[in-house]
Amino acid sequence: MSIYLDHNASSPLHPEVLDEMLPFLKSSHGNASSLHQSGRFLRSAIETARSRVAELVNASPEDVIFTSGGTEANNFALKGFVEMSPESSLMSSQIEHASVLHPLEQVKLAGCVTNHLPVTTDGIIDIEASLLLIQQHSPDLLSVQMANNETGVIQPVEHLARFAHGNGICLVHTDATQAIGKIAVDMQQLDVDMMTLSGHKFQGPQAVGALITRASTVKTPLLSGGFQESARRAGTENVAMLVGFGKAAQLAAIKLQERQSYLIELRRYFEQQLAEIPGVAIFGANSERLPNTSFFAIPFYHGETLLMQLDKAGFELASGSACHSEVTLPSHVLSAMGIDEDLALNAVRVSFGMENTRQQVDKLIATLNELINQLPAVMR
Ligand SMILES: Cc1ncc(COP(=O)(O)O)c(C=O)c1O
Repeated sequence: MSIYLDHNASSPLHPEVLDEMLPFLKSSHGNASSLHQSGRFLRSAIETARSRVAELVNASPEDVIFTSGGTEANNFALKGFVEMSPESSLMSSQIEHASVLHPLEQVKLAGCVTNHLPVTTDGIIDIEASLLLIQQHSPDLLSVQMANNETGVIQPVEHLARFAHGNGICLVHTDATQAIGKIAVDMQQLDVDMMTLSGHKFQGPQAVGALITRASTVKTPLLSGGFQESARRAGTENVAMLVGFGKAAQLAAIKLQERQSYLIELRRYFEQQLAEIPGVAIFGANSERLPNTSFFAIPFYHGETLLMQLDKAGFELASGSACHSEVTLPSHVLSAMGIDEDLALNAVRVSFGMENTRQQVDKLIATLNELINQLPAVMR
């Protein structure tokens, strides 16, 4: 069995989450919109899940709109809250996930103005430059991620949101997909209007998430039809998935401290040994990061080759590059940070979870050293 080190891509379902979901998967009759007893039972399970999700981020349950995951929630935030017209202006950062960047390209084609905030070499949004840009462009909507999925760097969302609101400039959305369950996230404290969550990033089921929005400011629902989710997102609810999402949220709140201390220590143990590899670069290491994430590059070892070698040796990691029409491109996050392209193409990401151990880290480090020693001497 391989050692799974790719929790930012998807984390395994927590056994207690599965237990809570199973009765809903086994007895599949009923529709939460029906008024009869079975319908009311399902409705009540959905509302429990809604309260648990709201509680995790200090929001009101009525502001939680369930979606099919983080991608839908991000699309909804960007397309549902601005008029698709040249008068609308949206601002985001260069290092957002594709589920923010691609909808932004679409709204731009539809006529909106879009701008991107720059980041520093440490992978954090450049605050000074960003405040100037926000003031200058005065967007209708600012969308900034809580934490980056590749580097794990935690972004200054509260600072930007307080500035935008303090100056009466715009609505603020944060994609908190990677932050939830790893660091404390409080919507009130962050002063954001909208937040994206995704269940499978914190041991809930895949393909379920939420957009949380304080006010009922939805201009255009992405999915229209029935009156589910207070007419903000139509379609019969997937109750078992929502129940699992709610349970994962409850566990994330209860276990946050325990998970944080365990993962910070495990990553520290890993990076201490990793840093002994000559020339290794750990991206974003000078910034505050998610406790579980380590994004690094080994000189002369192409990221995808390393990934395949590690996979053969029984370790599952993620590469930092993206394949487009058979051409490997460096990560847009590393490019935005000004990382040299050759080094960026070597990037790989380890993202730990609670089932990972020090023994597994020892094995990974030993395997990395073995693989490096197999490189021709001139390359080492
Ligand atoms: C930062 C970020 N936002 C959004 C998403 C998309 O979430 P989902 O997989 O639930 O569609 C991801 C997934 O990797 C992500 O890392």
